[in-house]
Formats: sequence, structure tokens, C-alpha cells
Amino acid sequence: PDLDLAIRGGTVVTASDTIRCDIGIRNGRIALLAEAVTGAARTIDASGLLVMPGGIDSHVHLDQDSGPDVTMADGFESGSRSAAAGGNTTIIPFAMQIKGRSLRACVTEYHAKAEGQSLIDYGFHLIVSDPTPTVLNQELPALFADGCTSFKVFMTYDDLVLTDRQLLEVFSVARREQALVMVHAEGYDSIKFLADRLEQAGKTAPYYHGVSRPEIVEREAAHRAISHAELLDVPIMIVHVSGREAMEQIRWARQRGLKVYAETCPQYITLTADDMKGLNMDMSGAKYVCSPPPRDTDSQKAIWEGLKQGVFQTFSSDHCPFFYDSPRGKLSPKGRTSFRWVPNGIPGVETRMPILWSEGVAKGRISANEFVALTSTNHAKMYGLYPQKGTIAVGADADIVLWDANRKETLRQEILHHGSDYTPWEGFEVTGYPVMTIARGRTVVEEGKVRGSPGDGRFLKRDKSPYALPLGA
Ligand code: URP
Ligand code: ZN
Ligand code: ZN
Ligand code: ZN
Repeated sequence: PDLDLAIRGGTVVTASDTIRCDIGIRNGRIALLAEAVTGAARTIDASGLLVMPGGIDSHVHLDQDSGPDVTMADGFESGSRSAAAGGNTTIIPFAMQIKGRSLRACVTEYHAKAEGQSLIDYGFHLIVSDPTPTVLNQELPALFADGCTSFKVFMTYDDLVLTDRQLLEVFSVARREQALVMVHAEGYDSIKFLADRLEQAGKTAPYYHGVSRPEIVEREAAHRAISHAELLDVPIMIVHVSGREAMEQIRWARQRGLKVYAETCPQYITLTADDMKGLNMDMSGAKYVCSPPPRDTDSQKAIWEGLKQGVFQTFSSDHCPFFYDSPRGKLSPKGRTSFRWVPNGIPGVETRMPILWSEGVAKGRISANEFVALTSTNHAKMYGLYPQKGTIAVGADADIVLWDANRKETLRQEILHHGSDYTPWEGFEVTGYPVMTIARGRTVVEEGKVRGSPGDGRFLKRDKSPYALPLGA
């Protein structure tokens, strides 16, 4: 037989269509879509299952330098394994520049960290923290040509924050190269001011992390980023939008005809600020500390409106995994003294798709096709991977998840594959779960059992994003 694999009897769901058909796979790519595919070396019976493009999680942090006191809980092996177990076939983590160092040298280190480790394909977004003339004029163009075609910039965090002048410098390089800029929109000075005041009042518990970064600081930064983007005519993607305030800025920008895109995450439809209270304001609230912080149930409703109305192109995990009960994690000696030193971020690469399916499709808020767009197709289009990734079509990579829409699972640490010692969704019940993840035609995870190997995943040189074309191009 000239086919390596046939997936038979399933219902294929793409961002646009839901079709009963079989899939034939050869050399890691989809060779055939037909009513009946026979004569393959191996056949998978997908009857009763949905057959969807594997998830693409375009916002993942792995093995990222987190300062001298803290170690990230996932490297590329455990992080990619966890991603695959959650139905993903591609991840795009960040290669972060350390201030005072060459971005290129830092990216080389991330390539070394990932080499031979990942079970699924991966790309890199660049984080620009020190935009020197060399970085702007030589390193960014060269790295762009190497396939790292998106740059993230931060408007907060001591080690990452850029001034407005620096934001404009990076935006203008992005415009020239047609790179897509991702913006972490939270205002540095306001947060610093509020955090200082809280600490002076003795309010140091993890809960006050959320109080120190209210929606207003996110809205202000979103507005400022949009204004800079308009000034230079450069498209931007505002990542991890947490609620109504920043969303209204994005809607406003779109009404003005600006190319302002947006991402949201599972935490903003399922968690609230109260989770950071833990048990009686104890340290367990640290398990939920991430930025922007989870808000309230009204914000969750706002995010659903945004998901249904197309405000958000992508739904990503912002997987940023730390250990909870560890001196090098959430509860470092410093972290115990104040929320200010609790590392920001939560693990979620494995639970992203089940949470969106369960809360979205199973509850009738979005269609299965919208689910595919939000978890896979739009990520591929936004970040220069389409149509190699993100859809089920002849010629595309055979990156596929078999999905049981009716399967009930209780999310809990013991069923997950990540490196963290906890999940923020312990006890959360979902309907809909991946049964098998297939990456370039190979089974990576089957019923929670890992079949793939580190090194099976390759670095993806991404094309430039069609979404990064300026209005006046
Ligand atoms: O708290 C978060 N989200 N940490 C990850 C870093 C970032 O800003 O995305
Ligand atoms: Zn590279
Ligand atoms: Zn961020
Ligand atoms: Zn992030």
C-alpha cells in the first residue's frame, strides 16, 4: 500500500466545515480525503470521534530564564509532552533576550534547550527586552529570516519593560520586516505604585497581586500600545486579554480600521481573583498568580462575548509553569514575603483545549468549527504556519487530534503530563477530551499514554504573517 496510515470513520471538523470522511496519510502529510480510504499500512478506527487539526498553542513559556531564585517547571520535553497529551501538535514558545545581552546569543541558547527534546513541532517568538541599535538593525532582521517572525514586547516587569520610545523602535522594525508584534499590555508605573502602597500597608498575600494590577492598568497599556501602533501603521496582537476594559480598547481600534488582534486564555473564562485568596488568604493563592490576573465573573462573560463576536482570533494557554511547593517556585523564600516575588504564570498547555471545548462547545456558546479556529487554524494563519499547519487538507502536515466530544474527565494533577506539581484546575469537570494526538502521521499520545519520543518534533521556520501587513502596504 502506498499510504502509511488511514483514519477511518470519523467526522472531520475544520474551521470551516464538518464532513464525514476518511483521511489517508503518506510521509507525514495528508495525501487523501475520501469517503472511504483503504489499503493503508495501518488503520485507525475513528468512528464516534471527531477528527480535528491538532491544537496549536501560540503562547507557551518553556525553560525560560526566570531569575536566580526560580526555575521553570517545564523544559521542552515535559512541556511538549503535556501539550501533546492535551491535543496539541504544535507549540510556539518564547526565546527571550536578557537585558544587556545579544538577542541572537539568547535565541541560540533556546535552540539548544529545545534541540532533540520536543515531541511535537515548535517555533519561537522572540522577546525583545533590550532593543539596542544592533538588535534592531541586525539581529531582528536576521532572526526574522531564520523563521522567528513574531516579536513580543512587554510594558511591565523590571527585567522586560520597554519605554514608549523603545516600543516605537521595535514596532517600526516589525513594520519594515512584516513581523507580527505581540504586546503584553500592563502599565509598569501604575503597577509599581499600587504594589508599593499595598506592601506598605502590610498587604502582601498572593491575593494582592490581583489588586496591584487592576483592569484599568491593562486598559491604559492597551490603549497606549494601540496608539503607538496607529502612529506607525503597524499591526499588533494584544495577548492574554483578561476582561472588558482592554477588550473595549480593541473594539475601538477595530472600528477605526486598525489591525489590532487579540488573544485570550482559559484562566479568563474559568478563574477569578478570589482564587488567589487560597484558603483564608494563605499562600495557596499563589497557585493562581498570573498576569494579567484572573478577574471576576462579569469579566468572564465579557470574554465570552469577545470569543463569540470575533474580538479574539486566538485562544492560547499562556502556559508558564512553576512549582507550587518548592523553594525555587511559587513559594521561594522571597515569594513568601510578598506577592511581588511570586513568579507570575500558571501551567495550562494540556488543559486549554478540554476547557474551551467543555465551556464553549459543550455548553453551546461556540461551534465546533469556531473551536478549531480558536485553538488551531487562526494560530497557524496569524503566525505564518498556514496551510502546512492548522487545517485538514491534502498536502498539509498530518497533525491531527481525535476527539471524544462526550468523554467526561475531572481535571487533576495525577492525569496531567506537565512538570508542575499542581494544576489550577484541580477538580474541574470537563466534557470533551482528546483520545489520540497524531503529529506528522505519528501517534504521539494515545489515551494519555505517551508514544512519541523527544526529538520527534522539529523547529519550524515560520513564514511572515499575512496579518502583519501594514494598512498602507
Ligand atoms: O503570568 C504570566 N502570564 N506569565 C507569563 C509571562 C507573560 O507575561 O506572558
Ligand atoms: Zn532561529
Ligand atoms: Zn505576557
Ligand atoms: Zn505569557
